[in-house]
Amino acid sequence: MCGIVGYIGDKNCVPILIEGLKRLEYRGYDSAGLGLLYNGNASAIKSKGKVSLLEDKIEGLNIKSSLGIGHTRWATHGEPSEINAHPHGNDSGSMFIIHNGIIENYAVIKKRLQKLGYVFKSDTDSEVLVHLIDDFHKKGNSLFHSTRLALSQVDGTYGIAVISKTEPDKIIVAKNGSPLVIGIGDDENFIASDVNALIAHTSKIVYLEDGEIAEVYKDSFMAKTITDEDILKEIVQVEMDLDEISKSGYQHFMIKEIMEQTESVTNSMRGRLLVEEGLAKLGGLKGFEDQIAKSNRIIIVACGTSWHAGLVAEYMFEQFAEIPVEVEYASEFRYRNPVILPNDTMIFISQSGETADTLAALKEAKRRGALCLGVCNAVGSSIARESHTGVYIHAGPEIGVASTKAFTSQLVVLALITMLIARKRHMSLADGKSIISEMATLPAKIERILKLNDHIEKIAEDFVNAKNFLYLGRGYNFPVALEGALKLKEISYIHAEGYPAAEMKHGPIALIDENMPAVFISPKDSVYEKVISNIEEVKARKGRIIAVASENDDKIDSLVDYTIKIPDTIRMLMPILTVIPLQLLAYHIAVKKGLNVDQPRNLAKSVTVE
Ligand code: M6R
Repeated sequence: MCGIVGYIGDKNCVPILIEGLKRLEYRGYDSAGLGLLYNGNASAIKSKGKVSLLEDKIEGLNIKSSLGIGHTRWATHGEPSEINAHPHGNDSGSMFIIHNGIIENYAVIKKRLQKLGYVFKSDTDSEVLVHLIDDFHKKGNSLFHSTRLALSQVDGTYGIAVISKTEPDKIIVAKNGSPLVIGIGDDENFIASDVNALIAHTSKIVYLEDGEIAEVYKDSFMAKTITDEDILKEIVQVEMDLDEISKSGYQHFMIKEIMEQTESVTNSMRGRLLVEEGLAKLGGLKGFEDQIAKSNRIIIVACGTSWHAGLVAEYMFEQFAEIPVEVEYASEFRYRNPVILPNDTMIFISQSGETADTLAALKEAKRRGALCLGVCNAVGSSIARESHTGVYIHAGPEIGVASTKAFTSQLVVLALITMLIARKRHMSLADGKSIISEMATLPAKIERILKLNDHIEKIAEDFVNAKNFLYLGRGYNFPVALEGALKLKEISYIHAEGYPAAEMKHGPIALIDENMPAVFISPKDSVYEKVISNIEEVKARKGRIIAVASENDDKIDSLVDYTIKIPDTIRMLMPILTVIPLQLLAYHIAVKKGLNVDQPRNLAKSVTVE
């Protein structure tokens, strides 16, 4: 979850590191720090809070350095504080490390090192790494081998970077379970946890794999496995535009990303809709289509918003591909004894492609022989690389912690996978054509929904002081209710629950009174009349109701307090439209409460720890 960046070259690295940390701040924002080598010295400058506070602190010091590492933290062990901020230094202050991940056996190692006289200053698990590396270094091992030997004693996950004034021409980096890339420049090199931090400087990237360690000089690098075997790493050209990772005039990344959905959904479909054949073309699945279509069962594994996309896919696959589906939380799946049968296909959905639980579940599924398909946004991410086959959603970088455009693009790609399978099984050409044609109309419909932004902002004004919210929907729109509630709680800190509308009378109806707003997702579909009955039940108990309804629904206005009218589409695609007003509602409520919607408290964009 933490962000890591580093530079080695001839330039002053301080502004480069600060800029990189700002781009990574969505990964963690409770404290930040730099480790620098300059004038024969090593030092760390750290600050609690956001990167801008570190920047203020460093400005007054007027330090110039051409080798440095930077870190922005999301606390796991030890409270957010300057002491617990990274980098952590050895006793003599000659060596510094930054770390993303969790060292599970840190307590045992710490005790052993304390007995040897090492003094720990922080409450973090990470600090054991610097003392352990130092211990090997003092015994005459090079910085590279000291790091390698130290890491071979460690259980857990890490992306780390190490610098030392004893070997001032290199940065050592290693990866296990947390992302780490090397950026290749001209007579300068970079390291980072995330390509976003480097893209202003280079698009030539080397992805380290788990169990790999590298020594990075200003003009070269060398990589090995932790077990000391030589490896050759490929340099990959990454396509990313700097504009994609800046706010482009918007107040927040979240609203920029919501507003981008016409384009992101278009990009997810680009070149993939074969209208005449009523088919989807997904190059990433080439060679696996028949095997997937012959599956006896599909198991979908994901977390958070991606899990909600998986729930929508359950409806899609069962309705059109007629394959039984199970949708699992990755964190639960990996610790059960999941029964994987021959002819099961597993789909792993992840925006970041780095979520620790999803990645671990994927590795376990592979071990048990399942065919594993990744649906990821981040190109080259761990889940994308670990999967046997997969489809990128091409939503473009998503920086706001609350996932928005990735969700709609995930749904588009899951609909395309459904079509691919369904057409190989039972779906007729005519049905295929009509669904694919309908998909092509989505961007224009999204454009119309986004024009409701001002209307939704006005509605939001009336709910700034709400303490609780219920989100209710049925069928395809039940997962949308869950997603709407998640959006609201994560950025506005208002308690919200999503429910299948008909379940309300089995418990939650007891909560309804004039202080309990209820958001109904009630487009005119086959369960419309049933949802209207649920609306009546809430109205009878004086609940305040917001309805996301169909444009041509005149009946609903008299039943509810607020309506958000959106264009219709077929049921399977409806969640791609109905979720957008809920994203906007959550956004405006949070902004009106004066909250930092891009970096909500306690959260981080990419959950790379368990
Ligand atoms: O990168 P992933 O899609 O694997 O992330 C999964 C969840 O951590 C993520 O969706 C999280 O729930 C978001 N904050 C939701 O807005």
